[in-house]
Amino acid sequence: MLDEVEPVKAIMLDLVVQRILKETEDVVRIELAREDGEPLPVYQAGAHITLQLPSGLLRQYSLCRLPTSGKSFEIAVLREPQSRGGSAELHRLKEGDVLQCKFPQNHFLLTNPRSPALLMAAGIGVTPLIPMAQTLHKTGTNFCLHYSVKSSAKAPFYQMLKDSPFADKVQFHFTDTERRADIRALLEQHKDKRDIYVCGPQAFIDTVLEQAASLGWPETKLHREYFSGSRSPEMDNAPLDAFQVKVASTGEMIDVDQGVTITEALEANGIDVPVSCEEGWCGTCMTGLIEGVADHRDTFLSNDERASGQLIMPCCSRARSECLVLDL
Ligand code: FES
Repeated sequence: MLDEVEPVKAIMLDLVVQRILKETEDVVRIELAREDGEPLPVYQAGAHITLQLPSGLLRQYSLCRLPTSGKSFEIAVLREPQSRGGSAELHRLKEGDVLQCKFPQNHFLLTNPRSPALLMAAGIGVTPLIPMAQTLHKTGTNFCLHYSVKSSAKAPFYQMLKDSPFADKVQFHFTDTERRADIRALLEQHKDKRDIYVCGPQAFIDTVLEQAASLGWPETKLHREYFSGSRSPEMDNAPLDAFQVKVASTGEMIDVDQGVTITEALEANGIDVPVSCEEGWCGTCMTGLIEGVADHRDTFLSNDERASGQLIMPCCSRARSECLVLDL
């Protein structure tokens, strides 16, 4: 008789915090490596890792540089004043602490590293665009990086970008001064309708995408990534660490604790919602939302669908109200 085969689990690595650098008053750079010094999996520009924090929370962070020695990952973390979880915890880390980390994944790939690109970043959203700029520079591809941020003092990677070999391709736009970006005017300079990669808060991304669409950019050339913690404009409530979901067909109330996804909580109570990516991009788990305010963390739903308040991706999204009533 064959031995019973264990189900394949996501591969997790134990990584040690090797170095913490204060990038700005609110941003730290954290370098992670294997305790045994062995190489880490390779990744491409735009990739992110998922970390399990000491509290059990899972959080995703973009890798902020291309692999150098191949033996460390580096992320940048913004301290969010309203955060009761991830960012505050990471800002409390010390060198030598150990975290569990899932292998890098990439849903924000450069479609073609030899095709001209326009990189548009706001604030900490610059993180995944730095390895993209490094890649484009390496391949000798025409690109520019427009970086909107409050001031040079508040700009993560300001000095690094000023000193980079592609410094002439980087344009800073400081929102505290007259040097604010005129997004439409910037886009209008690119008659070739090149690929646009945009990352930052939702309002910034929406503006770039809307302006690009109105200038005739094809949707296939618009690539976006919402950084963790970005807020949808329609949501004023703070995200909750723990909340309840109600199954509309039976009235059953289920607790969703910190560090547990809605689909995991449902499954633990015998209710299966089909899942695939479990990261909010494939659409498999889409579920009707009858009541309550979702904290959307997916990249699948359109802005209109989010604004309707009638859909949620329960594999990753959470709640901003005490209870979500699900159409199950
Ligand atoms: S399982 Fe892919 S979006 Fe939820």
